[in-house]
Amino acid sequence: MARYEITGGNALCGEVTISGAKNAAVAILPAAILVGGKCRVENVPDISDVRILLEILRDLGVDVACPEPGVVELDSTEIKSTTPNPELVRKMRASYYLMGALLSRFGQANVALPGGCNFASRPIDQHIKGFRALGANVEEADDYVNLTSDPETLCGHRVSLDVVSVGATVNIMLAATLLPGQTVIENAAKEPHIVDLANFLNTMGARISGAGTDTVKIKGVEQLFGGTYAIIPDQIEAGTYLAAVAATGGDVLVKNVIPKHMDCITSKLAEMGAEITNFDDAIRVRSSGRLHDTTVKTRPYPGFPTDMQAQICVCMSLAKGVSRLTESVYETRFFGYCTELQSMGAEILINGKTAMITGCERLRGAEVTARDLRAGAALIIAGLAAEGVTTVRNIHFVERGYENIIQKLTALGAQIRRLDD
Ligand code: EPZ
Repeated sequence: MARYEITGGNALCGEVTISGAKNAAVAILPAAILVGGKCRVENVPDISDVRILLEILRDLGVDVACPEPGVVELDSTEIKSTTPNPELVRKMRASYYLMGALLSRFGQANVALPGGCNFASRPIDQHIKGFRALGANVEEADDYVNLTSDPETLCGHRVSLDVVSVGATVNIMLAATLLPGQTVIENAAKEPHIVDLANFLNTMGARISGAGTDTVKIKGVEQLFGGTYAIIPDQIEAGTYLAAVAATGGDVLVKNVIPKHMDCITSKLAEMGAEITNFDDAIRVRSSGRLHDTTVKTRPYPGFPTDMQAQICVCMSLAKGVSRLTESVYETRFFGYCTELQSMGAEILINGKTAMITGCERLRGAEVTARDLRAGAALIIAGLAAEGVTTVRNIHFVERGYENIIQKLTALGAQIRRLDD
């Protein structure tokens, strides 16, 4: 398996351009199934989750072209199957969005349960609740979800989610788009990628309102037409680079961001002593590398994102004083990386949903293993800040969600290289 070798101690300086948002791209690309014709999607990140998804779509009969870097053209006129390739589906998490998209277009789908980061039990009961509310028959058997329906019964409906779920909100939006009648999703997730999906679908002719609030309304339409859409920048990729500069010290202009999406992250880094300056589509971060403690509680958007838990934990492990980090979305997420950070000298005490982190002067390089996407990103930040050499194994997790991470970090002065076993 490939690994990264990092020699820590360099401050990060210069400019980095953020790629398109992974969690928007993996929702928008399956949505192309709903478009009876060609659509062009721009600012698509070149990451393994996207490459796998495009392979799944090609296998279903979607005509997929990549005319230039970051651009994908899709034509779903000739789809020939409603059973995505299970081996590919199991390689990532967001493949379950194919359920909603295929159900909406064809009234049926037979999709294997997804794979992806397993830092917690990740049920899909709310997705299924939504499909059933729209009139679909849903059977779960042998690690498959089989959706069937009678054309007369599939129609819009009210769905009140029992838990704020990004995935369920996305899947129900996709399922409802081409159904007759109106669907109202209550207690919906409000993440930027939910709004991005709604904007993509509306560009293609859908009638979705309320995305970004806790109530999303979808007025079903007969069909969607082609069009062009550019994906928003990745809030979590941007947050990861901001946290890296805060931890290592330095002065970096993070370009191609939407500062509003970053508020929850930049305010916390500023509390810890980083100097943050917002521009229209960029953020400048400066840090001495010596931070001070703070308290963070992860929350659904617009709160501090759970996907930044591991990265801020590294900053806390280098901050003067004792920080508190409480996880309210995935309770077991700490276990993906804290042991590894402790092997680098971090002082972390986990008690249920809360970790107490006592900052130290320097972390020390070590051999560590990534167990999920964001854990891997955090271990890279730790290696950049540590004294000596750090080897991060299982970096395929990282390459699922960070485009050109070696090139981007090297350009900022990091000493990092990729080694294949
Ligand atoms: C999305 O996962 C993201 N993935 C995750 O990012 C992110 O951590 C998560 O949202 C929260 O923001 C993608 O967008 C592809 P949820 P998702 O449904 O949709 C519970 C990354 O690093 N729940 O919002 O799976 C669930 O257990 C990845 O980019 C149910 O109980 O998350 C969790 O406690 C990791 N039943 C909470 O809701 C359901 O049917 C939030 O999960 C669905 C979810």
